[in-house]
Amino acid sequence: IMNPIQIAIDGPASAGKSTIAKILATDLNFVYVDTGAMYRTVTLAAIKAGVTLTDEETVVALLPKIDISFKPGNPVQRVFLNDEEVTDDIRSVEVTANVSIVSAYGEVRTAMTDLQRNIASEGGVVMDGRDIGTTVLPKAEVKIFLIASVHERAVRRFKENQAKGMTTTLADLETAIEKRDYLDSHREISPLKKASDAVELDTTGLSISEVVAEVKRIIENKLQN
Ligand code: CDP
Ligand code: CDP
Repeated sequence: IMNPIQIAIDGPASAGKSTIAKILATDLNFVYVDTGAMYRTVTLAAIKAGVTLTDEETVVALLPKIDISFKPGNPVQRVFLNDEEVTDDIRSVEVTANVSIVSAYGEVRTAMTDLQRNIASEGGVVMDGRDIGTTVLPKAEVKIFLIASVHERAVRRFKENQAKGMTTTLADLETAIEKRDYLDSHREISPLKKASDAVELDTTGLSISEVVAEVKRIIENKLQN
């Protein structure tokens, strides 16, 4: 049994953050928080409302009408937007292509950060995203920064898409991943960045179970010191 600590997992798109965070949370009996799903849900809500996504004021004006909640589910956590299930819809190509525009807005980030800290205050938590170690949970006991080559990340997403019957090409996925990483790392507020006290783990060539084992070693090391 582990004390109810905070574990932050950050990194670029498709590095395996949510896969690893979910397994870890289950093994430790901690709460898992997918912060990317929150930004995706705001993006979906804006698309559904038909607003121009590059119009910050109009997108921000929707925030009071957006209620995001999670329910446990298998194999993925279920996501709800105002009581409507959006678990699959938030993974669409359209949402993925636009989420980095919406997630750059300051008031969107403040609202999501508040929600994330609220959930984290409930006890042991594994939270994955881009700015968890730097901004959301700066005092997290363990911070991991997961990376992998762009090619490997695109191949992972490609296999996942194939299983779902989606037809995006590998080249398109590489381009989309690079573009999103660029936008996420270059925005003004809380950009994607390794926290100074995070441990970086390159998962290129590693299986999911190898990454989980390595992350558990990192956690044990951290807690001993
Ligand atoms: O799983 P994937 O790597 O495709 O992305 P995600 O974790 O679902 O995050 C989707 C997008 O939300 C990212 O590309 C960021 O623009 C944004 N995001 C963020 O700005 N801050 C976070 N803590 C998490 C996600
Ligand atoms: O959350 P994030 O976008 O960082 O990545 P993910 O959705 O957890 O992982 C993207 C894909 O890579 C999933 O299909 C995982 O099963 C796969 N993956 C893998 O093949 N090997 C790893 N070491 C980690 C993840």
